[in-house]
Amino acid sequence: MNQTLVLFKRMTEHPADSHTIDRYLETGGYEQARVALGRTRDELVELVKSSGLIGRGGAGFSAGMKWSFLAPARPAYLVVNGDESEPGTFKDRQLLERDPHQMVEGMIIAAVANEVHEAFVYIRGEYPKPARRVQQAVADAYERGFLGRDVMGTGYHLDITVHLGAGAYICGEETALLNSLEGRRGEPRLKPPFFPAAKGLYMLPTIVNNVETISNLPHIVERGIDWYRGLGHDVDTGTFLFSVSGHVQKPGNYELPHGMTWRKLIYDVAGGIRNDNELKAWVPGGASAPWFVPSEHLDLEITKSVTDSSGSMLGSGAVIVMDETTDMVAAAERLVRFFAEESCGQCTPCREGTTWLDMILRRMLDGGGRAVDLDLLYDVSDNISVGVGWPPKQTTICPLGPSAVSAVKSLLEYFRPEAEAHIARANRVPVTIKGFGQ
Ligand SMILES: Cc1cc2nc3c(=O)[nH]c(=O)nc-3n(C[C@H](O)[C@H](O)[C@H](O)COP(=O)(O)O)c2cc1C
Ligand code: SF4
Repeated sequence: MNQTLVLFKRMTEHPADSHTIDRYLETGGYEQARVALGRTRDELVELVKSSGLIGRGGAGFSAGMKWSFLAPARPAYLVVNGDESEPGTFKDRQLLERDPHQMVEGMIIAAVANEVHEAFVYIRGEYPKPARRVQQAVADAYERGFLGRDVMGTGYHLDITVHLGAGAYICGEETALLNSLEGRRGEPRLKPPFFPAAKGLYMLPTIVNNVETISNLPHIVERGIDWYRGLGHDVDTGTFLFSVSGHVQKPGNYELPHGMTWRKLIYDVAGGIRNDNELKAWVPGGASAPWFVPSEHLDLEITKSVTDSSGSMLGSGAVIVMDETTDMVAAAERLVRFFAEESCGQCTPCREGTTWLDMILRRMLDGGGRAVDLDLLYDVSDNISVGVGWPPKQTTICPLGPSAVSAVKSLLEYFRPEAEAHIARANRVPVTIKGFGQ
């Protein structure tokens, strides 16, 4: 199946130099920033709202709606979230590295729409090459007059600062990111009372948007609402970047419209399962998302609403495919361990709970599982996310804690016999695990 190339078009057609300013200008670059500079805030907010663009960072909130909530106090800030640390997600990396000017132009449009004169790009610390490319793009944009005190001769003032993270997944959560930008510990802030659009960076109104969200803007300004809505599904408009990984023949990033089935994505786009093995399960939207299984979900349409109502989420577009050879207890443990290690430690249910979930799963894998362990997994999960339902009723400041519960919930829901088999095996081989006793 062919991709619908919009965000990936330039890098596909000009793989050698799509990141350079000369190629960007040669392919119509920065013309839409000029158009935006001639429009009012209301016009731009309405355009983006009507386009149906929803945020691509995970929460799936309408971009235009978020912009319309920006409090009137000034200065206001724009922050582009390029922290991208969710296991399985690697689409922003490609946008940052291969088409950084597309994002910079999107930032100019978002800045004009929100009357912002100071913008930041926060890039994952382990992305040195994408960060270098963005730094170069910003420097070139200054040199050619697209940034600075007199953007394109219009008198508009816009500065962009590129900031590298230091390796913490939690700094992708928007308020932890703002703390980190301010030089504080990367810990999420309690919300409500204040969301970033009201009090964000330095307690001033701030728009935080994902790299992919922002990269859509030049195309929406250029080609309009009808074109953008026509690209995708009636409700989920535009294209969506899927990062497909795991046991498929052709892992990679794919730019596709919403609305196809999972069967088509996994078997057609990603080439099917390696070695002609059976598909066992997949994570539909990043490590935080509850798993899908072929018997229930393979022919569902890939849209936000269908995925939400089926008990999971499209999130950041990371699809992790697991075949019949996967030990599902090991898969759950690997995901839970990530969240346990990345917990910032502010909330007891997350700090203690994720660690306990990981230790119980590890005990099961290491041959020390006990009959009560499945109930214990549920009980600890219930303390992090009441009722272990979807969407989670979190007892924590941010959704990281409940993210660890998704894998446990999926294990107990779809693969309980496999977990019980681990415990049955363990009972025949008594072992002592360091730190646990028997
Ligand atoms: C633990 C955690 C990690 C997150 N990591 C990212 C990230 O790496 N990139 C991102 O854009 N959003 C991430 N988010 C979502 C952001 O908080 C925020 O919703 C997003 O940047 C808003 O952009 P959007 O509206 O364009 O999607 C994360 C959220 C949580 C709870
Ligand atoms: S849920 Fe976890 S990561 Fe989020 S604020 Fe609480 S302790 Fe930190």
